[in-house]
Amino acid sequence: MTDREDSHSTGQGDGHSPDAEGAHPGGPDSGGSGPAAAAPGSPGPGVSRRWLFGVSAGAAVAGLAVGAGGTAALRSDTTAAGQVWPRSAELAVGADRAGAPVVAGLHLQFGADAAREAVVSWHTAGSVSKPVVRYGTAAQGFGTTVAAETRTYRDAKSGIEIQAHHVRLTGLSPDTDYVYAAGHDGAAPELGTLRTAPAGRAAFRFTSFGDQGTPTLGKTDGAPVFSPSLGYAVPTYVNDNLGSPFAGDVTAGIERVAPLFNLVNGDLCYANLSTDRIRTWNDWWANNSRSARYRPWMPAPGNHENELGNGPIGYQALQTYFTVPDSGSEDFARGLWYSFTVGGMRVIAVANDDICYQDAGSSYVRGYSGGAQKRWLEAELAKARADRGIDWVVVFMHQTAISSADKFNGADLAIRQEWLPLFDRYQVDLVLAGHEHHYERSHPLRGDLGTDTLTPKPVDTRTDLIDTSKGTVHLVIGGGGTSLPSNALFFPGNHCRVVTAVGDVNPATGKKAPVYVLEDAPWSAFKDAEHPYGFCAFDVDPGHPGGNTTIKATYYALTGPTSDLTVVDTFTLTRPRSDR
Ligand SMILES: [Fe+2]
Ligand SMILES: [Fe+2]
Repeated sequence: MTDREDSHSTGQGDGHSPDAEGAHPGGPDSGGSGPAAAAPGSPGPGVSRRWLFGVSAGAAVAGLAVGAGGTAALRSDTTAAGQVWPRSAELAVGADRAGAPVVAGLHLQFGADAAREAVVSWHTAGSVSKPVVRYGTAAQGFGTTVAAETRTYRDAKSGIEIQAHHVRLTGLSPDTDYVYAAGHDGAAPELGTLRTAPAGRAAFRFTSFGDQGTPTLGKTDGAPVFSPSLGYAVPTYVNDNLGSPFAGDVTAGIERVAPLFNLVNGDLCYANLSTDRIRTWNDWWANNSRSARYRPWMPAPGNHENELGNGPIGYQALQTYFTVPDSGSEDFARGLWYSFTVGGMRVIAVANDDICYQDAGSSYVRGYSGGAQKRWLEAELAKARADRGIDWVVVFMHQTAISSADKFNGADLAIRQEWLPLFDRYQVDLVLAGHEHHYERSHPLRGDLGTDTLTPKPVDTRTDLIDTSKGTVHLVIGGGGTSLPSNALFFPGNHCRVVTAVGDVNPATGKKAPVYVLEDAPWSAFKDAEHPYGFCAFDVDPGHPGGNTTIKATYYALTGPTSDLTVVDTFTLTRPRSDR
């Protein structure tokens, strides 16, 4: 059986400069920098980067609005002081303009405590001097300066080194709007805003999808083709990393609903398939920075983050671009699994290539953690369920335990063997996945039906209101934008193809051949065969002491020529609060 993802196996890395593990500390400039040389009055064309990064606390910004839609309007100060926060273009002046790499891919991550910790990140192709973030509350402005830590990787295929600059913001105030600017010597800074999570139980919204790709065209498709109308040969371009225009539209959709944060369920940009991995990552960031600079996008690694030669197990690009909360894993697996707390919710990312049977990355790395991830996950789940401040436990990951699609990836038995018993024991409420390029929802599941495929057992079939203390709801949200949707491949009726093992390498694909077993799928509650693309939004209502808390979930499909949001599926999860 042809596996759609397998069928896009990448070309091999050319092997030079593999596994570059270079890292160096950030510049010496750290916190609370001194003031500056800020000239009063309008900065005008003579303003320099020094004016920006040296300006004294709170002096530079006024009239700043943090929009609900994630936009930050930066306006001129009309007060007597006349200080203006310059727009980027106004800053790019003089000799500095051409000399320094641009601030690319500005984005946010939450720390382990989303109410008080965040990381601002960007990347450059080439070395920079003094990468810093200036930040402060929306009311007080850009008063504090923090130096970046720079980490690097050298792509094994191209030999190009990327430097990613990460600034940790700690001691933040909960439920507060911040403004920030990121930059380095000689570059026009990029601006963003951050809203911290509320402390303790509170209402908030988050979103999720996986399998995005990029909306850009990646490479020329062979030789130029003669154009009769133009009279000469013109190059044609293709997207060689499974992207489509919807990979851009989904980002705009996320901004429309303006969540506190977004969970990306793996297969971010499919760089492992592309001719130019570096360009592909850059395109992914260029597309998503317009959202991720206003709200953290938190990733779980997918099989297409496995890039041959980039680090010992292939995830070094992902690991370099992101700084997620530390889970104490060994360095080679840093950032692949982690957790963070938002309100009364513990969010846990797991890395399924560690356990899955299917061979779908650029190398087969099953078992790489030697059981360390599972031990961490069980401890993490136990800790979450013992915490009377935590009601909801949400796991997000890439490969899925459920799928009703034929001739695509299917479900992976390993997830049912390794994770589901833990999800049962610790009453995980919600599991978000991708890998299948469609939307599907399960009934609440607990235990199995005693089949060889460990078919998950539905404990209820009501579809509008679900008590997740009785069973775990799984969602596949893999319509993030790829050129290979699987919504047209659903079995008639409820059936599932489960990968139960792999055989020898198939010379045609270069992958270990999957062994599939077909099962009945009474666990399936809803599947969207109509729409290829969309995402989920979740609205958490903390409820009241002694009562229940709820999450209202909405799956939005992207429809029409402007990818408007169409509600396709809604349901409410409920569970008793842990403090009652
Ligand atoms: Fe995918
Ligand atoms: Fe995948």
